[in-house]
Amino acid sequence: MLEAIGLQKTFQTKAERVFALREFTYAFPEKGLVFILGKSGCGKTTLLNLLGGLDVPTAGQLLYNGEDVAAFSARRREEYRAAHVGIVLQQNNLFFDLTVRENILFCAGEGADPEPVARQLGIEELLDRRINELSGGQAQRVTIARALLQDADILLCDEPTGNLDAATGEEIFRLLKELSADRLVVVVTHDRQSAETYGDAVVRMRAGKIEQTMQADGSGGEACAEDEP
Ligand SMILES: Nc1ncnc2c1ncn2[C@@H]1O[C@H](COP(=O)(O)OP(=O)(O)O)[C@@H](O)[C@H]1O
Ligand SMILES: [Mg+2]
Repeated sequence: MLEAIGLQKTFQTKAERVFALREFTYAFPEKGLVFILGKSGCGKTTLLNLLGGLDVPTAGQLLYNGEDVAAFSARRREEYRAAHVGIVLQQNNLFFDLTVRENILFCAGEGADPEPVARQLGIEELLDRRINELSGGQAQRVTIARALLQDADILLCDEPTGNLDAATGEEIFRLLKELSADRLVVVVTHDRQSAETYGDAVVRMRAGKIEQTMQADGSGGEACAEDEP
C-alpha cells in the first residue's frame, strides 16, 4: 500500500521559493482508480513524480508497504520505480518511427514478451506497425502497455487523455478502470465528469494541498459523495 504523509515539495528558483506541494496526506488503496483533479499549477505533476520515486519530497514521508521511499538512497528509489511503477503521460513519449513492439520493449529487459500485455490492451494486431501509423488512442494504449510490461502495481497517469478526443478519452478511462482491478491506478485529469464516473476515489487539490476527497459509494459506483443532496 502507498501512503503519503505530509508530503511537501518546494523548488528554489532564482526569484523565490515555490511551494509546489504544501502538505499532502492520503492513503491510497492497494487497488482501484484514484483521480486527482485541480487547476493547472496546483501540484498534480509534482505529486505524481513523488509517488513514482522520480523526485524526492522536501518534507514528509511516502510509505510503500510501510517503508519510506522518500528516505531511500537514489539507487533504492530507482529499484522501487523499476519494480513497481508504470508512468503514462499526456505526450506519449513514443518513438514515432519505431514499431509498437519496439516501443513497448524499449525499456524492457532481455526476453520480455510484449504479446500478453498487447493482447490485454487490444493492440496485438498492431505490434508491427509504426507509431506514426496509429490513431491517438491506439498510441496511448501503447504507452500504457509499455508502462505495464514490468507488471507495475502502481500505474501513474498524468493527463493521459489530454490530447485525445472525448470518445477516445472515454475508452482510455474504461481501460484504466479495468486495469485498476489488479493494481493502483492514479490519474491526473481535468475531466471531472469522467473522474466521478470511473473513480473509486477523487482527490481535489488546490495550491499544493488536498481541498476535498470523495469516495465512490460502494453500491453502484456512479455517485460521489459530493453529488449527494
Ligand atoms: N522544477 C521546478 N522549478 C520551479 N518550480 C516548479 C518546478 N516544477 C514545478 N514547479 C512549480 O510548482 C507548482 C506545481 O507544478 P505542477 O506540479 O507541475 O502543477 P500541475 O501539474 O498541477 O499543473 C507550479 O507553481 C510550478 O510552476
Ligand atoms: Mg501537470
